[in-house]
Formats: sequence, structure tokens, C-alpha cells
Amino acid sequence: MRIILLGAPGAGKGTQAQFITEKFGIPQISTGDMLRAAVKEGTPLGLEAKDIMAAGKLVSDDLIIALVKERIAQPDCAKGFLFDGFPRTIPQAQALLDADVAIDNVLEIAVDDEEIVKRLSGRRVHEGSGRVYHVIYNPPKVEGKDDVTGDTLVQRADDTEETVRNRLKVYHEQTAPLVGFYRELGERMPDAAPKYSKVEGVGSMDEIREK
Ligand code: AP5
Ligand code: ZN
Repeated sequence: MRIILLGAPGAGKGTQAQFITEKFGIPQISTGDMLRAAVKEGTPLGLEAKDIMAAGKLVSDDLIIALVKERIAQPDCAKGFLFDGFPRTIPQAQALLDADVAIDNVLEIAVDDEEIVKRLSGRRVHEGSGRVYHVIYNPPKVEGKDDVTGDTLVQRADDTEETVRNRLKVYHEQTAPLVGFYRELGERMPDAAPKYSKVEGVGSMDEIREK
């Protein structure tokens, strides 16, 4: 099973990815988590990505495509995988097609911009695992601590209101066109194109998981 989760920043991709990957026994490939790990380790990729991410812009297609190709060649991806935050531009989606990486499902989680600003300002994350919480909507058992490890939770550097607005703008300009890209692919190559589904992403996390 190969799945793409598509949705604006804060739509709940990381949240729902936890359920989907458990259900199908496949790894989650979050390019955002991989880049944040590189920034933390101070690798050349991390040094290049740091300021771009803090500004809410996109890292170059070439870097991302190389990163993903290396990741999906790992043995744990043989049974499939879930992409969270990739592809994010038409050239990234085209690179998957060109590399003959067939995708079964594209799942869009749709949430309006105002709800997103509320969600991201209250988000807290566990850096080691990528687990996500929200101070009101999904609080940890002990305030400020990860449920599993007890580590202190942090706020992401790009969750300030100004950067969130920038990320939304970039999403509408560069990522939202993927909806049309996959719809059109379905019309042109019905057998080869992934099945496209859209889920309304406003409601409780459990309701959205059910959908
Ligand atoms: P990335 O890490 O992918 O961030 P993003 O797409 O902006 O998405 P988020 O992780 O912010 O949101 P999410 O949809 O996962 O929501 P979550 O489940 O956490 O990318 C970061 C940066 O890296 C990019 O800006 C770019 O610079 C770079 N990058 C990454 N991939 C790239 C690529 N392919 N190409 C180029 N550059 C790339 O939920 C959000 C909050 O809401 C949480 O607090 C959660 O608890 C809460 N919540 C979730 N569901 C609900 C609900 N139903 N009700 C109430 N609250 C909810
Ligand atoms: Zn995420």
C-alpha cells in the first residue's frame, strides 16, 4: 500500500498518519520530520534547509526528490509507505511518475485557513518521535510532557503566526495545484493513476479517522 496524504499545514496529516501507518503496518515518510532531524543534527542538508523552513518557504525540489528516493529504497519500504508532506509541488509529483513509483491512494484532508491558524498556535511536538499534541484539542496526559517518554514537548520554529500565514500562501500557490494534477492524471491514465479521495478535516480526530 502506497499512500500520499495531501493537505495544508496543520490539516492533520501527521495526526492521521499515526493511525494509518499502524493499521497498514507501513512506515510514515514525513519530509518535514526528516528535514527537522537534519537541522537538529546540523548536517549539510539541515544547514541549507534551516532558514528556508523558518521562513515557511519550500526546500528545493532537487534536494527533496533525492532525499525521498534514498528513503524509499530502504528495506522497510518494500511493503509500502505513507508520504506525509510529499509531493508538495508539481515537479515533485512528476518525479514520482518519472521514477515509476506507482501510488495507490491520494488522500486529501481539507481544512480552512482560520482553523489552521488556531491549530498551529497550540501545537506541541515530541522532537524524537514526531508525535503531535495540541494544548486544547489533544493535550498530553501530563502538561508539557510526551505521553510515551516523558520528554519535554516543544513548539516548532515555524509555528509563529507570521510563518504560518506564509506557509498557507505557499500551500495555495504551489501544493494545491496537485489536486488538479492527480484528477487530470486519473482522466488521462485511469489504470495507472492513484485513487483520489477527499476528507473534510474539521471535526474530532476520531471522526476524521473514521472517515
Ligand atoms: P511539514 O513538516 O510537512 O509541515 P506542514 O505541511 O506545514 O504540515 P504540519 O506538520 O504543520 O501539519 P500536519 O498536517 O502534519 O498537522 P498535525 O497533524 O501536526 O513541513 C515543514 C517545512 O519543511 C515546510 O514548510 C518546508 O519548508 C519543508 N518541507 C517539508 N516537505 C517538503 C517538500 N516535500 N518540499 C519542499 N519543502 C518541504 O496537526 C496540527 C495541529 O492540529 C496539532 O497540534 C494537532 O494536535 C491538531 N489537530 C490535528 N487534527 C485535529 C482535529 N481534528 N481537531 C483539532 N485539532 C487537531
Ligand atoms: Zn506534519
